Amino acid sequence: MSLTLNDIKHNKIKAWVEECIAMCEPDNVVVVDGSKEEYDALMQKCVNAGLATKLAKKENCYLFRSLPSDVARVESRTFISSVKEEDAGPTNHWIDPKELKETMKGLYKGCMHGRTMYVIPFCMGPLGSPISKNGIELTDSEYVVLNMDIMTRAGKKVLDILNADQNAEFVPCLHSVGKPLNNGETDGGIWPCADVEHKYITQFPDEKLIWSYGSGYGGNALLGKKCFALRIATVLARDEGWLAEHMLILKLTNPKGEVKYVTGAFPSACGKTNLAMLIPTIPGWKVETIGDDIAWMKFGKDGRLYAINPEAGFFGVAPGTSAESNKNALISAEKNTIYTNCALTEDGDVWWEGIGYPAKGKLVDWKGNTRDALPKDKAPKGEEMAHPNARFTAPANQCPCIAKEWEDPAGVPISAILFGGRRPSTIPLVHQSLSWNHGVFLGSIVGSEITAASTINAAEVGKIRRDPFAILPFCGYNMGDYFKHWIEIGKKSTEDKLPKIFYVNWFRKDANNEKLPGGFMWPGYGDNSRVLAWIFDRCNGDNSNVVETAIGYMPKTLNTDGLADYYKETLPEILKVDVEGWKKELADVKENHYPKFGKHLPKELSEIIDMIQDRLNKA
Ligand code: GTP
Ligand code: MN
Ligand code: MN
Repeated sequence: MSLTLNDIKHNKIKAWVEECIAMCEPDNVVVVDGSKEEYDALMQKCVNAGLATKLAKKENCYLFRSLPSDVARVESRTFISSVKEEDAGPTNHWIDPKELKETMKGLYKGCMHGRTMYVIPFCMGPLGSPISKNGIELTDSEYVVLNMDIMTRAGKKVLDILNADQNAEFVPCLHSVGKPLNNGETDGGIWPCADVEHKYITQFPDEKLIWSYGSGYGGNALLGKKCFALRIATVLARDEGWLAEHMLILKLTNPKGEVKYVTGAFPSACGKTNLAMLIPTIPGWKVETIGDDIAWMKFGKDGRLYAINPEAGFFGVAPGTSAESNKNALISAEKNTIYTNCALTEDGDVWWEGIGYPAKGKLVDWKGNTRDALPKDKAPKGEEMAHPNARFTAPANQCPCIAKEWEDPAGVPISAILFGGRRPSTIPLVHQSLSWNHGVFLGSIVGSEITAASTINAAEVGKIRRDPFAILPFCGYNMGDYFKHWIEIGKKSTEDKLPKIFYVNWFRKDANNEKLPGGFMWPGYGDNSRVLAWIFDRCNGDNSNVVETAIGYMPKTLNTDGLADYYKETLPEILKVDVEGWKKELADVKENHYPKFGKHLPKELSEIIDMIQDRLNKA
């Protein structure tokens, strides 16, 4: 049976929910219990309202279509509303919290007319883990409840934990699609959301409070994910001495059966989900998944960093996911999955560009138009059948390669941290930092080269868009202070116990070499296991296959058994230090990147630049 407000015994939660009810004026209030019956009933409500389509071809799977104006995170409408503007830093949008609260209260007033308010008690991280944190999301979107059910531990079991202790902490998260239904109106089968200028995705870091209004899209509306597990959690982590990161977590087993755990921060659309679920091409090695997007890491008593995945599902990008690129993701999403903005086939299945086979017959595209399938598995930009940011929401425990310890409340001890981005030149396939602080420097310069496909401004093409630690859109405080926090973390333990730090780059290009598929000099995907194997051995203290270069430690070579000859030929080139390229890189960091952070930039990072510059001059 579903729960009611009377089941909330935690006085602070109750008072806050009542305050929000008085402001938003929903027709009904339901406390989410997290049961299958409740999930099924809510999904049926969405189907009846014309918002979801049941897929005939996949067990318990449904397709939602959003409005074209509500398909992604909106950074221009995302705010870090700290009391002091300086605390938001130079890379976040800021509005004074007093002013923003007045504006948003005006929007929230009566915004849930004609709708139900759902109260979702949820836990980020395994239940009972000392690293986990609880939240309560209030939302008027059934889509949000259904997704939160998959992406978090939600419902009665979490409410019971909160009810048991009046002092139990929770992060309050208020969400509304911003589309009240007055006088018996209905959504008429149209995804509800507000106009762009009325969307606000606001974090109040001083109060650890989240207010989101006007969008139904995942990153803006599933408040446990980017808003809590990253923007608010980075602030908690700074204050409490741990790390909340935009990182995958994987378990790596070598042919001897030895295990290491690795995290990796790559900007969105740079392959975290792929690496987390990788199928190695070298015999005897195994990769298993702990998480594909977010890692929370805390020191254990032994001085090592232990990581948990705060999420319980995958919110993965669908386009480009195929049996070849990520079979394990496809299998994870075979049943009990929510698809958003994918195309629908005539026989009741989903389809997207890059799924690995052409569609047949007619398709309903993500905008709801019925069109003839294109003869190829590709479409011109803007005419895709599936939106390029179409997503699947799949339970993590359905992943064929999920590690058995993925929900261990103690977390897993991390041996290596990887950073990476899309860098067609300069950055080698892999190099290891000379020290913790050098590793922090590598995290701070993460970025991707701007291509003609990623900008409309021709003058930007070829420049580097920096996304330090891949967390630029998700850091809840001043990015310069965040760098400082990483330096401080390094002082809490010793180099032998801290994870080793590596910079990887799967994206080196040689446009003139016609043999290379896509122009990429490295095959990537499953073949990244060759790089992981070297990283594993480095973590084991193996010094047999290493050279110390000006920029850090690098492999002399890698296991190339079974690689195509043209990759064997390009390997030496991507394992070389590009001295001139690195000098330019450091100059760019010094002139265009670091000055943004002013006096918040830790001096340790400038010292690293000087040190590497010195080494390059001697190289
Ligand atoms: P978010 O979930 O948005 O944080 O992003 P993500 O880091 O999980 O990236 P996502 O899985 O969306 O990125 C996949 C993109 O990276 C696709 O375009 C893949 O084709 C590409 N990709 C992933 N791994 C590799 C690789 O090893 N080599 C190459 N060339 N491309 C890769
Ligand atoms: Mn991902
Ligand atoms: Mn992400």
